[in-house]
Amino acid sequence: MNSLVTDAQKAGERVGLTFDRITIEGGVPLRGRIEVRGAKNLVTKAMVASLLGETSSLLRGVPDISDVRVVRGLLEVHGVKVTEGTEPGDLILDPSNVVTAHMADIDAHAGSSRIPILFCGPLLHQLGEAFIPDLGGCRIGDRPIDFHLDALRQFGAVVDKLPSGIRITAPNGLHGANIELPYPSVGATEQVLLTATRAEGITELRNAAIEPEIMDLIAILQKMGAIISVEPNRVILIEGVEKLEGYTHRAIFDRNEAASWASAALATGGDVFVGGAKQEHMMTFLNIFRKVGGKFDIYEDGIRFYHPGCALKPVVIETDVHPGFMTDWQQPLVVALTQATGLSIVHETVYENRFGFTDALVGMGANIQVYKECLGGRPCRFGQRNFLHSAVISGPTPLEAAEIEVPDLRGGFSHLIAALAAKGTSTVRGIGLIDRGYEHFTDKLTALGAEFSRD
Ligand code: EPU
Repeated sequence: MNSLVTDAQKAGERVGLTFDRITIEGGVPLRGRIEVRGAKNLVTKAMVASLLGETSSLLRGVPDISDVRVVRGLLEVHGVKVTEGTEPGDLILDPSNVVTAHMADIDAHAGSSRIPILFCGPLLHQLGEAFIPDLGGCRIGDRPIDFHLDALRQFGAVVDKLPSGIRITAPNGLHGANIELPYPSVGATEQVLLTATRAEGITELRNAAIEPEIMDLIAILQKMGAIISVEPNRVILIEGVEKLEGYTHRAIFDRNEAASWASAALATGGDVFVGGAKQEHMMTFLNIFRKVGGKFDIYEDGIRFYHPGCALKPVVIETDVHPGFMTDWQQPLVVALTQATGLSIVHETVYENRFGFTDALVGMGANIQVYKECLGGRPCRFGQRNFLHSAVISGPTPLEAAEIEVPDLRGGFSHLIAALAAKGTSTVRGIGLIDRGYEHFTDKLTALGAEFSRD
């Protein structure tokens, strides 16, 4: 495992992912205005979609984050010319010379990203084959991408496992299919969309994910010439077309980033205006934010999130696929819940193992216990399987400064919030991981009056 981690780290460093640390003087409420741009979880897929077109695409509102650099590098090794446009955040993607990339080149850019799996459909259409590198030993193989591979097989693709990754071919072309996902997976839904748009015939996808980022990807594909209809009950129908053109599109805003800054405002007792945030895609978050006691005002150009000035209230949350409470929102919000008076429960039903980040919070004085049982609501698919997927947070507990290490993107941001809320000097190591999905977050911290230094 160690050598695999090292490979991922090296790949990360090549795209600007550093292992910097930040020293924070906590206890200062965040106050001010920041802007969020295009959603990481749309922009990276929209960049892949450009591969399907015969002409150039213009994607607007692209944030400067390392996940975008990873996907840009991957597109470039496949011959896509990527250039900046006239406005900040414009990317022009020209797919007129798509070529088969060398495995080594793909691997070098991929790092620990899961996006390469989404190159399958577009590359099969463009080149008749696709190689997906093994990005980290235990990370690939049938389990985490089984829905993707099963769907590709149903389109007629042949999947060969090689020691270095997976080779996918389509000797008889790709044909529309009837696919039912075992779970409404975001990535597998995107896989089907990106493959079905140019497959021959009609595809019916059942139990699809319907996140706003997926709707935005469908809007992009429609601009390109695709025929896709979203039906009731998680059904999506795609009529394959022979060719697609490039698109011009402004990416949907990053609701995960907006919710993260909202949680930071609440946990630090602050007041943050998140420019670019829109109510319609955050309603589930706003309901919970209000139940906790958080205040918000909706404006045309963003949402102001602020602490009520009195005690916060405990809540019961169950994460879920859209329109449920997003799994990516729970980690930052848990820090604010450590400051609520009473017992809060978070039942994580999307990922089996997303509470590792709470260890560091407990080390800082939080009272959080994690359980294998499904607490607070309905049973989920993890209940019988020994996963620590429910958390009980008892507050309020003052947080004490600590030295902490970033475990993952959202867990890392929650550690950052904890350090900002804690009295005293904390050090958060490995913050390059936060750069994967939070654009210029240290500049934003400065704009919000945080006291810190980054080494
Ligand atoms: N799953 C499988 N097999 C598959 C695919 C998924 O078992 O082939 C399982 C996963 O293990 C998980 C569940 O299905 O338990 C849902 O996974 P999903 O496929 O929906 O997630 P994803 O597409 O890999 C995206 C976001 C995540 C976000 C989830 C859920 C991107 C790049 N990532 O992941 O975002 O949490 O959807 O909304 O779009 C983040 O931004 O920090 C992040 C992790």
